[in-house]
Amino acid sequence: MPLPDDSTVSLLREGYAFIGNEADRRGRDVFATRLLGVPVICMRGPEAARLLYTDDRFTRKAAMPPRVLHTLLGTDGVQTLDGEAHRERKAMFLDLLGAGQPADSLVATVTRHWRERLPDWEKATSVVLNDEMGRILTAAVCEWAGVPLTREEVAGRAADLVSLFESPAAIGPKHWRGRLARLRLQQWIGELVERVRQGGFDAPGTALEKVALFTDADGRRLPKHTASVELLNILRPTVAVARFVVFVAMALHSHRRLAELLRGFEPESREVGAFVEEVRRTTPFFPATTARVRTPFEWQGVRFPEGRLVVIDLFGTDHDPSTWPRPEEFLPARFDDFEQRPNRLYELVPQGAGDHAHTHRCPGEWATVGIMRQAVQILGRELEYDVPAQDLRVSLRRAPALPRSGFVMSGIRRAEH
Ligand code: HEM
Repeated sequence: MPLPDDSTVSLLREGYAFIGNEADRRGRDVFATRLLGVPVICMRGPEAARLLYTDDRFTRKAAMPPRVLHTLLGTDGVQTLDGEAHRERKAMFLDLLGAGQPADSLVATVTRHWRERLPDWEKATSVVLNDEMGRILTAAVCEWAGVPLTREEVAGRAADLVSLFESPAAIGPKHWRGRLARLRLQQWIGELVERVRQGGFDAPGTALEKVALFTDADGRRLPKHTASVELLNILRPTVAVARFVVFVAMALHSHRRLAELLRGFEPESREVGAFVEEVRRTTPFFPATTARVRTPFEWQGVRFPEGRLVVIDLFGTDHDPSTWPRPEEFLPARFDDFEQRPNRLYELVPQGAGDHAHTHRCPGEWATVGIMRQAVQILGRELEYDVPAQDLRVSLRRAPALPRSGFVMSGIRRAEH
């Protein structure tokens, strides 16, 4: 029997929508409840995002459930650090993936791999976009990172990398597949880290080399285990961008007039940018993130006691009706004046909130947006295809969400211009 005020049943029933719905039901954006008997404080909205991402009364230590650490994230990675130790480690990621050349080089490698695959798509009767992108992104990010991978290995490594983000919320065998995949992947990358450190492997300037040789302020290298977790913090989420590519395809398919209009615009254009931002805002992907209270305080009439788990609803903040009127509608024009909005770092938060250098906001955001812009270019301008009858329903009770069919495309051909 759930305890009084335990919201586990609502969470299971409503999935991604739970915190937002509950906030609407209670008429407040911050509320205390229990999930699986554990007391938590749930929050949504830009002010809550600002609080959790920037206030040092929170800590990320012991803030993630073990089932997430043993699959998705690994232990001792950048996500679990606070303060100066976090900023140092984060600087390494921003050096590798920051705006401009670093992110662009990853996007260019992905785009090249994708284009090389197109002749096979044209020959095939049909392809499942989600599965194809998983393999294309795996091959591309490994090449970019300096991680050797033969053609024969791509499918197996892709399956393991996908399993890392498919398994945290799963129960039973699917969850255990994710744990095994993490062990296998860490073993693989750990051996490469060791070879680089022993000088037996030449990977100049690559992410593999930089992570393997990274030293903290005391001049110490990362333990081999931690180095492999951090390199997987680049490989895994790049493969996860496949989900956003599928939701780009879904949006092009559902909004034909918009898709037609976008044919007139280059990937770098403002118009494509606004479309991509609206896909990121509306896609049910990373549902929420967590922290623990380090120093007790009170906020908006709610007591935050020491050690309490606090959950910020990222999906709910991206659908907060006070920031995004008619949040369920797909309206890229919302982004026309977005750059001028003073609160923008806390309003659009599919990949975390705040500024990248000082908070846990995602350092892969520029690469993600770049790959999605290329997806609009390839799927919306360079190719024509049919979308045969299939089950495109998206359940909000599955994280990360995906149209059931994975988005099947058939009769793929080059567009005639
Ligand atoms: C698939 C699209 C992506 C989504 C939905 C996503 C989502 C997120 C979110 C929500 C966070 C913040 C989590 C928190 O507050 O603890 C985050 C952090 C992070 N992301 Fe991403 N991400 C994506 C792509 C990428 C890419 C492409 C990379 C690298 C190539 C990347 C690397 C990271 C790392 C290293 C962190 C931890 C940052 C820190 O703790 O300071 N992500 N991501």
